[in-house]
Amino acid sequence: MVTMQIDILTLFPDTIRAGLGESILGRAQKNDIIRIEPHQIRDYTLNRQKQVDDAPYGGGQGMIMQAQPLYDCWRDVCRQAGERVHTIYMSPAGKPFTQAEANRLQRDYSRLILVCGHYEGVDERFIEACVDEELSLGDFVLTGGELAAMAIADAVCRLVPGVLSDVSCFQDESHYSGLLEYPQYSRPLVWEGRGVPEVLVSGNHGKIARWRRKEALRRTRDRRPDMLERFPLTGEDRELLRELEDEE
Ligand SMILES: C[S@@+](CC[C@H](N)C(=O)[O-])C[C@H]1O[C@@H](n2cnc3c(N)ncnc32)[C@H](O)[C@@H]1O
Repeated sequence: MVTMQIDILTLFPDTIRAGLGESILGRAQKNDIIRIEPHQIRDYTLNRQKQVDDAPYGGGQGMIMQAQPLYDCWRDVCRQAGERVHTIYMSPAGKPFTQAEANRLQRDYSRLILVCGHYEGVDERFIEACVDEELSLGDFVLTGGELAAMAIADAVCRLVPGVLSDVSCFQDESHYSGLLEYPQYSRPLVWEGRGVPEVLVSGNHGKIARWRRKEALRRTRDRRPDMLERFPLTGEDRELLRELEDEE
């Protein structure tokens, strides 16, 4: 049963298919756990040239995606869904997308529409009429919303039960708990003269868990002190941080 459907309104549906159709998300789509459907906005134009953009009122550089094709495409997807679907516009002016936002979207919705702008952006009246929230991939400007939509769809879909083999696959990862993940190693035991930390081959699960927690705390403290400040440390965390300080 499909438990998360993401419809992506775009001028480049093949980019979306190529980006999200393989590996874990491709398999999850084949197994009908999730569905990711790109919709070609250009199919909804009313002019023979299939033009989707026009010059901005007030003058200036670039072209603006017109409201009509976007609106007709959006309305068609909502009609197919049988309801007004929660709609997110990919925008450098939106709220920054984080793991917490991915968790929220997966928890609160079973269907989402992601709208990809292009050129200089989209007519504000479409946003006013149809968009529930705007999300940004970061403080930089992309040429189009496709990479942002793919990143958001990926981050949300991997949280859907059944997409990954076990919830621990994402619960232990960077950002989910509020810490960065500890370093990981795989075979061979020695590579280019570099070994792996001894504790990881000790077979002592208690010691391994303690080492991993300590390294997660070390990494977060060194690379993202802002995250560590917000993190609710346990008594053991404080002890591990003290140990780190003593060792340095
Ligand atoms: C060149 S951008 C338009 C930027 C717009 N003129 C501005 O200054 O805010 C074209 C499209 O790329 C997408 N985009 C660009 N940067 C983005 C970002 N950081 N996060 C999400 N989407 C972005 C948006 O959908 C946007 O409509």
